[in-house]
Amino acid sequence: MNSGDGTLAGHPFVVAHRGASGERPEHTLAAYELALKEGADGVECDVRLTRDGHLVCVHDRRVDRTSNGSGLVSEMTLAQLRELDYGAWHPSREVHGATPDTGLLTLDDLVRLVLDWNRPVKLFIETKHPVRYGALVESKVLALLHRYGVATPASADLSRAVVMSFSAAAVWRIRRAAPMLPTVLLGETSRFLGGSAATTVGATAVGPSISTLREHPELVDRAAAQGRALYCWTVDHYEDVRYCRDVGVAWVATNHPGRTKDWLQNGLTGVQSD
Ligand code: G3P
Ligand code: CA
Repeated sequence: MNSGDGTLAGHPFVVAHRGASGERPEHTLAAYELALKEGADGVECDVRLTRDGHLVCVHDRRVDRTSNGSGLVSEMTLAQLRELDYGAWHPSREVHGATPDTGLLTLDDLVRLVLDWNRPVKLFIETKHPVRYGALVESKVLALLHRYGVATPASADLSRAVVMSFSAAAVWRIRRAAPMLPTVLLGETSRFLGGSAATTVGATAVGPSISTLREHPELVDRAAAQGRALYCWTVDHYEDVRYCRDVGVAWVATNHPGRTKDWLQNGLTGVQSD
């Protein structure tokens, strides 16, 4: 709905990128619970497959940056990954001390958390490619979403899950197998996102970075003309949130969902305050 000043009422919705990862260690229960308590409309996660076929929420190929262990996720078992702590590295430890709930988070854990929350929240699941197990990642994601009864929503708007990837082939796999599930084709360039790739694979949204969007705001209108929403990442600064609202972005992914919700609720009328 247009609010009369050219902006869309209620937009943009706020997606907690890797949870409230500015305040808590990324991809941990601590980060997601904080994001949900802060009022995030959606949460984002990256998923990878373990050696024994489990979907876990880890961004990098290796666990070295975000845990007290070392190794490739694809070469480790779920049990091995569960032995590690994913919180000790984060700067928040200096402020809050050791945070509980910084063990390994599986996609199963996160789906349950989101579906059991006391208001409807969307889960944006990003599959990483290229990876050792290729298309098996999307098959496992779909199987899990079917298990929870959220793979065949009545409409994209009502869907509790969205699947995203920088890989057009991955988006196509989801679209082909679960046509009602919304998808985001992520991209680094306006050439890729403004071209025919999103149409070819049937993505329901496109996802530029904030720097690509700043250079190419026409991506919003182009997406809208093709019936697509726009998801923008990673929008952490006051001026960038205002920019996204003003050009009509539907979803902003941010590491700071709490303050972003506050900024939007207060109308973003001030000067830069972050
Ligand atoms: O939300 C999309 C964004 O997360 C893509 O970049 O590297 O943070 O997964 P990355
Ligand atoms: Ca991601």
